[in-house]
Amino acid sequence: MYFELTEEQLAVREAARDFARNELLPGVIDRDRKMEFPKEQVQKMAEMGFLGMMSSPEYGGGGMDTISYVLAMEEISKVDASCAVIMSVNNSLVCWGLEEYGNEEQKQKYLTKLATGEWLGSFCLSEPEAGSDATSQKTTAVDMGDYYLLNGTKNWITNGGTSDVHLVMAQTHPEKGHKGINCLIVETDWPGVTIGAKEDKLGIRSSDTHTIMYNDVKVPKANRIGEDGFGFRFAMNTLNGGRIGIAAQALGIASGAYELAVNYSQERQAFGKPIAQHQAIAFKLADMATEIEAARLLILRSAWLKDQEMDYAAASAMAKVFASETAMKTTIEAVQIHGGYGYVKEYHVERLMRDAKITQIYEGTSEIQRIVISRNILKGQLYIPMWKETMHAV
Ligand code: CAA
Repeated sequence: MYFELTEEQLAVREAARDFARNELLPGVIDRDRKMEFPKEQVQKMAEMGFLGMMSSPEYGGGGMDTISYVLAMEEISKVDASCAVIMSVNNSLVCWGLEEYGNEEQKQKYLTKLATGEWLGSFCLSEPEAGSDATSQKTTAVDMGDYYLLNGTKNWITNGGTSDVHLVMAQTHPEKGHKGINCLIVETDWPGVTIGAKEDKLGIRSSDTHTIMYNDVKVPKANRIGEDGFGFRFAMNTLNGGRIGIAAQALGIASGAYELAVNYSQERQAFGKPIAQHQAIAFKLADMATEIEAARLLILRSAWLKDQEMDYAAASAMAKVFASETAMKTTIEAVQIHGGYGYVKEYHVERLMRDAKITQIYEGTSEIQRIVISRNILKGQLYIPMWKETMHAV
């Protein structure tokens, strides 16, 4: 087994680290406090090529592998998890989905703008009554011949106030259940699209999350992705990759908090020595480091499986559930290590703790990831049948 990163992957990580330190760190506390969308920073991310990293160069993307993408996501998330989710949704839910399943005309018209970051995209699956239970889509796309008439409400939409394009899942054939759902490409300035108020969130406060209403929006048939009824499969397959991005965001939040805790605990003195030299703190650091490394390995493995075009649904679910739970635990411990200083904004760890929580919720809650993993176990895909045979033999 080979664990070394390539020169190119190392260079991407270095570039993302420098970018996060120089461009994202200044003002991150203020943007969080004011819920201010990081417009300038997103513009710079576009210039750096961070918004379409995995898209093909022929459509304006970086042509990089998923491993490079997760390395960049980790570095950016260490400093600014709001910028990271903007980046993750655009890269893995919008650009990747379009490139993998869109037709040439759709790629020329939309992907070329999204992969360069000239436009931002949103992925619109969740609804007020269809969150984890995503097959229960209430939004409808009625077939009107050469267009669909789209009606419904989507909520928790990342980039909702700033995106130019939505990928909207909507039910066309209710009698077919999830096999009747379509994914439609909708431009946000089309008549009938209304952007609701920005959510006032616990964490990732400078990313903009909105409810979107569609009222008799005419969507040309040419804007349907894939065959009639492909929409749910599109959403699930795309989310499998999205979850790798969110796992990397969680890893970045955890490793950012861990680095802050290591630094602080070596400076802060108590009972005559740096607190890192007290076993109570040293063991916390050891657990943080171990869990972060385990999360990193799960994420890199799922990214590698995706790059090899092997099945990565269960691997990405494992990476996401473990990394997001590690982010929550690690940030809580980082606040604890900082004591009272951890509870104030200036020291960053309280923000990272607030940011961590959403990674256990969006792109499939931890409970949904366990459903995905356990269904793969029961299908016999994560199980080596040694004991079954042995038990019958003895
Ligand atoms: N990969 C590929 N296909 C999958 C899949 C996966 N991970 N999970 C389910 N499917 C397929 C199933 O194989 C099945 O396909 P067929 O009918 O063709 O065999 C189909 O989807 C329906 O699956 P189930 O029969 O298992 O349906 P279910 O209702 O019992 O479970 C679910 C479905 C797995 C719970 C699904 O609804 C789900 O993943 N829910 C979570 C939704 C989610 O992640 N939302 C995130 C919103 S997007 C977001 O957060 C973006 C953002 O802005 C940050």
